Amino acid sequence: MKRIYLDNAATSFPKPDSVYQAVMETLQGGGSAGRGSHQQALAVDRLLFDTRELLAERFNAENSHHFVFTASATMAINLALFGLLTAGDRVVTTSMEHNAVMRPLRALRERGVDVVQVNSDPVSGILDVAAVKQACLAQPTRLLCVSHCSNVSGSLQPIDQLGPWCHQQGIIFMLDAAQSAGTIPIDIQADGIDLLAAPGHKGLFGPQGTGFLYFSKGLELIPLMYGGTGTQSGSDRQPEQSPERYESGTQNSPGLAGLKAGLEFVRQIGIDAIRERDRLHGEKLLSGLQSIDRVQVYGPGDPEQRCGALSFNISGRDPAEIGFILDRDFCIAVRVGLHCAPNAHRTIGTYPGGTVRVSPGWLSTDDEIDTFIDAIKRISQT
Ligand SMILES: Cc1ncc(COP(=O)(O)O)c(C=O)c1O
Repeated sequence: MKRIYLDNAATSFPKPDSVYQAVMETLQGGGSAGRGSHQQALAVDRLLFDTRELLAERFNAENSHHFVFTASATMAINLALFGLLTAGDRVVTTSMEHNAVMRPLRALRERGVDVVQVNSDPVSGILDVAAVKQACLAQPTRLLCVSHCSNVSGSLQPIDQLGPWCHQQGIIFMLDAAQSAGTIPIDIQADGIDLLAAPGHKGLFGPQGTGFLYFSKGLELIPLMYGGTGTQSGSDRQPEQSPERYESGTQNSPGLAGLKAGLEFVRQIGIDAIRERDRLHGEKLLSGLQSIDRVQVYGPGDPEQRCGALSFNISGRDPAEIGFILDRDFCIAVRVGLHCAPNAHRTIGTYPGGTVRVSPGWLSTDDEIDTFIDAIKRISQT
């Protein structure tokens, strides 16, 4: 039986062939970025520069050197939060956040940062913009931190109503774009984004071990790590300039070569075409699953308000059992449980049992989605 991969919210698979090739060629080419002036090192320098330029183009940023490479979205989020916040600062965040945001904020709360959580709608998982603004204005607020698209319910937050408003109020706006980078158009300037954290390995098709943080001009972050950057080697002080300041240690050039190929793939397909296919997949899944007795689908009913992941349960059944049967009997990969986002499950009423999460990708086919819906129909009848 052919395997069907519907777990793209965890990591996209398969990657475009150009991504595998780029990783291999860079490994075979040798050289380390910023480490030498020989041709192999310079080629890797160029590769990293080009990748940053592609990121700046993808997200409409003015300065590509404000993109810092990280090993994951989690590392990017940690760099932003620990780099920015100190005791006495106030942060407003949402009930749909991933542990990648919740846990650093919890640790920061223990260091004296005031963290306020605004609950999303229990049915759609979407934020009430007025409630967010009210929470931000209740006391002086330094940062609003929002997950663009929930990895549990697929709920897409109305960031165009938040980022520009934050700018007017002098509040820093941070977006966790783990589930939307590469699938939903994001415009750093128009959306008023000051901090953008994302993985390279999901919608941007790069390999695991890649991610990035963008920070806007004028923001001063404390580095997460200190060490060799290949620049100002005579000094024991961390360089001031970006991106070196935040990129100590040897860079993951094979991974970043894969990310560059992934970014080129997204550019070639076009973000609007990717978004449209994602929306059609969502529509097909929604209508297919909602037509099955005993299946409850969570999150927005309108495909325009969702992206990527879709969560559901079959009444009376443990999601873990459904995932196990899908894998064993139908060769279908999905993810079950709490998806590292317990408060999102509390919001939509699926804590502590969790849900079955299905997340097609660009390379998923209509046939695969039909097979999946048929499998759920059959499982629900047993
Ligand atoms: C919404 C959200 N934020 C952050 C992350 C963390 O991403 P990474 O695993 O690349 O660190 C994920 C991962 O699934 C996510 O879904």
